[in-house]
Amino acid sequence: VPISNIRNFCIIAHIDHGKSTLADKLLQLTGTVQMREMKEQFLDNMDLERERGITIKLQAARMRYVLDNEPYCLNLIDTPGHVDFSYEVSRSLAACEGALLVVDASQGVEAQTLANVYLALENNLEIIPVLNKIDLPGAEPDRIAQEIEEIIGLDCSNAIHCSAKEGIGITEILNAIITRIPPPKDTSESPMRALIFDSYYDPYRGVIVYFRVVDGNIKKGDRIYFIASGKDYYADEIGVLSPNQMQVNELYAGEVGYLSASIRSVADARVGDTITQFGRRAESSLPGYEEATPMVFCGLFPVDADQFPELRDALEKLQLNDAALKFEPETSSAMGFGFRCGFLGLLHMEIVQERLEREYNLTLITTAPSVVYRVNCMDGKTIECSNPSLLPEPGKRKSIEEPFVKIEMLTPKEYIGSLMELGQERRGEFKEMNYITQNRASLVYHLPLAEMVGDFFDQLKSRTKGYASMEYSFVGYRESDLVKLDVQINGEPVEPLSTIVHKDKAYAVGRALTQKLKELIPRQMFKIPIQACIGTKVIASESLSAIRKDVLSKCYGGDISRKKKLLKKQAEGKKRMKAVGKVDVPQEAFMAVLRLE
Ligand code: GTP
Repeated sequence: VPISNIRNFCIIAHIDHGKSTLADKLLQLTGTVQMREMKEQFLDNMDLERERGITIKLQAARMRYVLDNEPYCLNLIDTPGHVDFSYEVSRSLAACEGALLVVDASQGVEAQTLANVYLALENNLEIIPVLNKIDLPGAEPDRIAQEIEEIIGLDCSNAIHCSAKEGIGITEILNAIITRIPPPKDTSESPMRALIFDSYYDPYRGVIVYFRVVDGNIKKGDRIYFIASGKDYYADEIGVLSPNQMQVNELYAGEVGYLSASIRSVADARVGDTITQFGRRAESSLPGYEEATPMVFCGLFPVDADQFPELRDALEKLQLNDAALKFEPETSSAMGFGFRCGFLGLLHMEIVQERLEREYNLTLITTAPSVVYRVNCMDGKTIECSNPSLLPEPGKRKSIEEPFVKIEMLTPKEYIGSLMELGQERRGEFKEMNYITQNRASLVYHLPLAEMVGDFFDQLKSRTKGYASMEYSFVGYRESDLVKLDVQINGEPVEPLSTIVHKDKAYAVGRALTQKLKELIPRQMFKIPIQACIGTKVIASESLSAIRKDVLSKCYGGDISRKKKLLKKQAEGKKRMKAVGKVDVPQEAFMAVLRLE
């Protein structure tokens, strides 16, 4: 089709507002996928994603649709639905001319949706409001339309009412995509530039790159150059996503497709990078490229020390597919050999952990996540520290800076008070509050990222019965009065339990942490002191009394096979433990600092 008949769009929606269901209906109605080849939902195709009901990786699909006897080509570019991946969202938006803003007509606009709408507006996208789930008895599409107008300032007079589930309003949406979203600009004569909005590692073919041709054209066999990574390759295969990969010989300005070029790591073809021709390079890259900066670090240690080489292999393999994952070896006297790993956020961290255990059969101990501190040392140097146990001694450091985030919470008005308390407890600095509608308010705080890592989101949800939503972005480093809190168990320091806390909270955290550890660490045959210290000063201490837990006493002598069985059972119960000196410390203890009352 001519470029004037191409439309590139994405769907912006809050989790559970129906993005995947709508995408599936669009694919069905355009005959892109047949009912029988539809898995439960086509666009989210990683198992993990389906189980968690969230979209992690971007995908794309090309649809054919005829309107008034004109054939059109509609490219849907999927966007991930979580704050950790907002950079990827911004790149997929940059690859489009328009967006469907899907809002659950029984719920209304959420913080995350808002953030993505602003990103879309910055990218000059045409936004089509879609009010979904009108089949629900509680749906109030007119009220929600008004809410969108008030909050975003978007004209909702021609918002589309739809039920993705019942298939209502789908044709209207397709027509609106064609009539309201502009076609791409025709720049096919310019030197080639293509924007990478996703890439993944295929063990047989190497990295598969998903891109939007912005200028010029790309042919099969072209020698291509990635501007940010500085790598060049031959595009052995190019094609479109319909939604399965289908080879073509050439793609033109405005089109969306994939390529494969025997690329060994996604780091060579990262999201946001610009592809150009090796022989006829574009003068500049497309705007918006950013390096991935891990915000959260934790230690990963195999429970069984023999699994260390396997853990390294697994991390290397995952990294081929995940340019944001960083890791380096870490050794600790308490934990043995492991890795210090960096992640975009907590969800990213959980995903990697889960994949390591599930896909690579590893049993791991994860230590509590830490942010990256900046330490200004006496010798004038500034070092970055993402491992609390390696924080320079008080005599060597002048000051410590920590990352701050701006967080926006949207909440029904009755919960404003409890969210303000939460903000206060987490060292938040109140910035502003606005009523976005009569009943809903937006609260903005600046607070330390360290206070958000952990259970902040859970707290937000539980204090508002699940009604509030939030969004955050990094705002910069600030000096804070921080100290390092160390933990000793049975007289031995356990570095992975060290944590960096604000001075004013140190005593309370020390007390709560030792109490929590006392609950979590199983009693042993001897008494175990548990202490929290700042430097050499003990600020809190507990002691775990001895127990003689003799499982064999139940066996009344004799039966050796029964004895073995019992011992095996006990060993299995111990799986997620790390022996620290003479004490077995369970996984939960390493995360205890995140769950203090
Ligand atoms: P993420 O992939 O997590 O971002 O969620 P999503 O926005 O893709 O939501 P999804 O399509 O998975 O829908 C969430 C839930 O809402 C599912 O249980 C759907 O069946 C349901 N749902 C989606 N559209 C409608 C609708 O029009 N009406 C009703 N009643 N339910 C719907």
